[in-house]
Amino acid sequence: MQQKPSLVIVLADTNTAKFCCNELISLLKENQINIEMLVIEANENSKSLDICQQLWARLVELNTDRSSILINVGGGVVTDLGGFVASTFKRGIPFINLPTSLLAMVDAALGGKTGINFNGLKNYIGTFNLPVFTQVNSKFLESLPIRELHSGLAECLKHALIADIELWNLIEENSIKENIDQILQSAINVKLKIVAADPKEQGERKKLNFGHTIGHAVESCLMSGKKPIPHGHAVAIGVLCESSISAERGILSKSNLELIFNKLHKFYESTAFTNNEIDAIVKLTHADKKNRAGQVNCTLLTKIGEAVIDQNITDEEIRNSLNYYQSI
Ligand SMILES: NC(=O)c1ccc[n+]([C@@H]2O[C@H](COP(=O)([O-])OP(=O)(O)OC[C@H]3O[C@@H](n4cnc5c(N)ncnc54)[C@H](O)[C@@H]3O)[C@@H](O)[C@H]2O)c1
Repeated sequence: MQQKPSLVIVLADTNTAKFCCNELISLLKENQINIEMLVIEANENSKSLDICQQLWARLVELNTDRSSILINVGGGVVTDLGGFVASTFKRGIPFINLPTSLLAMVDAALGGKTGINFNGLKNYIGTFNLPVFTQVNSKFLESLPIRELHSGLAECLKHALIADIELWNLIEENSIKENIDQILQSAINVKLKIVAADPKEQGERKKLNFGHTIGHAVESCLMSGKKPIPHGHAVAIGVLCESSISAERGILSKSNLELIFNKLHKFYESTAFTNNEIDAIVKLTHADKKNRAGQVNCTLLTKIGEAVIDQNITDEEIRNSLNYYQSI
């Protein structure tokens, strides 16, 4: 942005307001910039129409216009929600992403997908709209709880599985902290390269959805059943289930499947599902945004570092994969 913005609105959640905003606020104040701070609850439920309405109402009260700018300081919840609120307010005001969780740094804050959940369905309402820029600063990770660091690692592992075997080899339980900058760089490169080739998800970008067909269904099911798990943990379950479907079909070797299970089990505790939950998860995969003509459309793996898009999977395969996941 060339000119000084008329107003800078900083959107954070209750944790990132505490741990990640002080330096930014001081810098803006030093430059005599008008600032307003908006703080939301730190959880997935904030990605709702209700919260959007409250934020839009506040933007109206503040006389926000297109020369104002919204800065999203937070994890994927803040960048998804803030990006959506900015994209839709007065047909779009500019926004900047300052991701503070590993997951947002390597995934949510990049690539221009914004959105909220709707009627219990993940990311159902949203836009494709790029921020003015995204600035990644690994210093923010110092205050990130370990459970959330592992949640972000799931997206790094997924990026590695679909496109980068060296990144896969780099992610090892005992050396995450010392290799974090390289992990960040490689995982970001995978995402940016794929998005540049296919910004609107017509083909190549669907690879990034690996693990998310079943992962999103697991996340939605557990969220409505009041035992929520972090997004990345649900993605990790999706990665394991979709890898096992790939192996069952004979397109992924059993030895690769074993390597994937061994590595992911070091980071994520196993989750047990009741029969009712399995039924609900299978049903939820039918609401996935990638589906066409009633078929569940999924990305599968052919080897570590290589994926194949547009694979229709059956309810039976999904059910079997969840049972296999629980049995290992
Ligand atoms: N738009 C996309 O392309 C895309 C891609 C992947 C995921 N997502 C979305 O991202 C969301 C998940 O993101 P997330 O895992 O970052 O969740 P999140 O935003 O809820 O953050 C996780 C937790 O970590 C806390 N936190 C974040 N940064 C912190 C820091 N530096 N210090 C202390 N605490 C910190 C948050 O307050 C929260 O409690 C989901 O809603 C998912 O749908 C979007």
